[in-house]
Amino acid sequence: MTTATQIRQHSSSDELQGAAVAVRDVLKTYPHPDGGTFNAVDGLTFSVRPGEVFGILGPNGAGKSTTLEIIEGLQGPTSGATSVLGLDSQREKTAMKTRIGVQLQASSYFEFLTLEELLQLFGSFYPHSVPAQQLLDKVGLLDKRKALVGQLSGGQAQRFSIVAAMVNDPDVVFLDEPTTGLDPQARRNLWELVRGINDGDGKTVVLTTHYMEEAEQLSHRVAIVDSGRLQALDTPAGLISSLATDHSVVFSSARPIATDGLNTLPGVATVRNRVNGAHTYELSTRSPKETVPALFQMASIRRFEVDDLTVHAPTLEDVFLNITGRRLRD
Ligand SMILES: Nc1ncnc2c1ncn2[C@@H]1O[C@H](COP(=O)(O)OP(=O)(O)OP(=O)(O)O)[C@@H](O)[C@H]1O
Ligand SMILES: [Mg+2]
Repeated sequence: MTTATQIRQHSSSDELQGAAVAVRDVLKTYPHPDGGTFNAVDGLTFSVRPGEVFGILGPNGAGKSTTLEIIEGLQGPTSGATSVLGLDSQREKTAMKTRIGVQLQASSYFEFLTLEELLQLFGSFYPHSVPAQQLLDKVGLLDKRKALVGQLSGGQAQRFSIVAAMVNDPDVVFLDEPTTGLDPQARRNLWELVRGINDGDGKTVVLTTHYMEEAEQLSHRVAIVDSGRLQALDTPAGLISSLATDHSVVFSSARPIATDGLNTLPGVATVRNRVNGAHTYELSTRSPKETVPALFQMASIRRFEVDDLTVHAPTLEDVFLNITGRRLRD
């Protein structure tokens, strides 16, 4: 089993050497709808380590899919180069393609073939392939082997699209927004599937997402991309701790509390309050360990109630907001 720690230990100073995926100075220029051109990918450089789940996080139009397509050899960069397992995505495309798995959007499958037939067909494109039934079994779709993609639920179709990327038993799997449009339960099931592909089957996974939680939960490292540029790259914990953002302590009280008193609690930087049936207070603090006990002490002395207390640590969402100046989804 590969853990994040092992991956970190595995990392060498020479990042691009021995990388599962290497992206160097990639620029992709497209015609602009208003005339002229623009850079959809604007000088990206990063590498993915073997055994890693690597998340590319960014808003709509950030250049995530374009970057994946360039790495997969589906389109060429305007300049720069990419490689997978040392094989150049353009010059050694044929050899590279036997080593990678590419998830297609479920809607783009032939609608007249069954799941089993589709997997057999895809498998026939490769010198070595995994038996269709084994793949379907892996994602709990064996009983649907005679079904058409159009007869699957959203979550099932998405699981199928992932397993279809595994027909050639690839070393590196690319998933472009694997859980978009799924409900939270189906999303969690898919996370388990992706973890299994990584931990259990030992495959390197590169995925794009615009769900913060997904990037945080699944990825060993996350690249934040905005306007085709790399804004940050680190482990989720590293990204969060690099951010000098405070925790927030939120509680409510049946009656109003003097905010100037709350301001004096240890660690507290700012106090916000809102009235929503009860009076809710949000203390931003760099030290919840000191703030919370002091808050209860103050409550017993000044005789106010502290209800529904929660402490929120900064999240990737805060990192994103801090770096790009906006929320991922407005
Ligand atoms: N073939 C194309 N011709 C012109 N512009 C394109 C083309 N493909 C993508 N673009 C533009 O390039 C930019 C990056 O698109 P891309 O699909 O890579 O974004 P993305 O990060 O995958 O977004 P999303 O989260 O919506 O999938 C967008 O502004 C898009 O409109
Ligand atoms: Mg995309």
